[in-house]
Amino acid sequence: MIVCICNNVNSQTIKEKLNEGVTTIQGIRSETGATGCCGKCQFKVNALIQDHIPALNSSKRVAQGS
Ligand code: FES
Repeated sequence: MIVCICNNVNSQTIKEKLNEGVTTIQGIRSETGATGCCGKCQFKVNALIQDHIPALNSSKRVAQGS
């Protein structure tokens, strides 16, 4: 699904960046260009980041052994 129409960035590309550890809107912008023009996709990008946070937290717990 296309998230950023201005820069033709899809959700898969953003998820790949999240999995690589890019977890801020600024980081996603610099890596993909998403949110860099009109900014209308910012809410969608933020939602993808928020959806990814539980995965980040659970992987940290695994890494910490708890
Ligand atoms: S839709 Fe992403 S910057 Fe315009």
